[in-house]
Amino acid sequence: MTAGTDLTALNTLQLHATAEHLVTVTSSDQLQAEIAALDEVAVPHVLGGGSNVILCDHLPGTTLLMAIKGHEVLSDDGTKVLIRVGAGESWHDFVVWCHHQGFHGLANLALIPGSVGGAPIQNIGAYGVEVAEHIEAVHVVHRQTGERECLSREDCAFRYRDSVFKHEAGVPWIITEVDFVLDREALVEASYPTLRVRLSEAELTHDAVLAAVISIRRERLPDPVITPNVGSFFKNPVISPQGIDILRQRFPEVPVYPAPNDAGKISAAWLIDQLGWRGEERDGVKVSDGHALVLEGCGARSAAPWLALAEEIAASVKEAYNVSLDLEPRVIGVTG
Ligand code: EPU
Repeated sequence: MTAGTDLTALNTLQLHATAEHLVTVTSSDQLQAEIAALDEVAVPHVLGGGSNVILCDHLPGTTLLMAIKGHEVLSDDGTKVLIRVGAGESWHDFVVWCHHQGFHGLANLALIPGSVGGAPIQNIGAYGVEVAEHIEAVHVVHRQTGERECLSREDCAFRYRDSVFKHEAGVPWIITEVDFVLDREALVEASYPTLRVRLSEAELTHDAVLAAVISIRRERLPDPVITPNVGSFFKNPVISPQGIDILRQRFPEVPVYPAPNDAGKISAAWLIDQLGWRGEERDGVKVSDGHALVLEGCGARSAAPWLALAEEIAASVKEAYNVSLDLEPRVIGVTG
């Protein structure tokens, strides 16, 4: 292993990667100073909660570990509340804190691992809610120039599991704080099928939704503190109306969810499950028994076996359904 700081405890796949030089960042001012001190051409890596990354063996140069804390209520008109939150706060703790304050909108996103700063990057979503619906602005620092910027929701170009931060124009930005708009009078969102079934007998309150989301996730998804995983390993593929028709002719029961512009979001878990992948194991990585979209570590300590199994699954889905699967987590660092 290359010398440097061990990152095993800082990524939920528990991969044995190293960072050449790891710096913990606790404020935007410090972040700007760290960037100013780097070589002009150096591009630092950034780690948040480490819950949606696949770390290759080594991260050369500087890696910034984002640990900016705190939340501040910026405005409150008695109904809508605007809150600024540090990127290094735990996502789930923030969701629970908002719930206890009576600031509603995020309960469906409970128990998603990771940090507040990671949430906008892949526009985290679950049980019928995407975080973008509640984001007012994202505060960023440019990872090479140190310039500060405040991006509006529109600037962030949020889509299903996607945002500007995953594309060339947005990759240079490091998220330092996020502004959320929440609502004391928000309606309960319980239309997602699994949630609707779980709550069919219950009174529809924010308390009930929070408890149901937590219990469904605990039953179906492995806890990353115990079992290495990053949640869904692939995105649900979004395909054209024609593509859906073709697929449905051959596989009438394939689950399809609505997506913008008449496109459809296909259940990747279903495609993978139908091919018998659940429970399959290769070189210390296994397709979860509980959910076919989730890969679990059972001994693997480097990125290679995870990527190899993902490639094998994607190739089998392509062959059987002519549908391409994209990885959901980001791959960072170099191999060898
Ligand atoms: N299904 C199977 N086999 C399985 C699991 C699911 O066939 O092993 C089928 C079932 O028909 C089920 C359907 O897939 O009804 C949808 O399953 P689920 O409700 O679990 O949703 P998903 O589309 O597989 C997405 C998110 C999850 C999120 C859930 C709940 C993505 C990539 N994943 O999964 O997010 O928790 O919806 O809203 O969009 C994550 O991103 O890490 C994550 C866990």
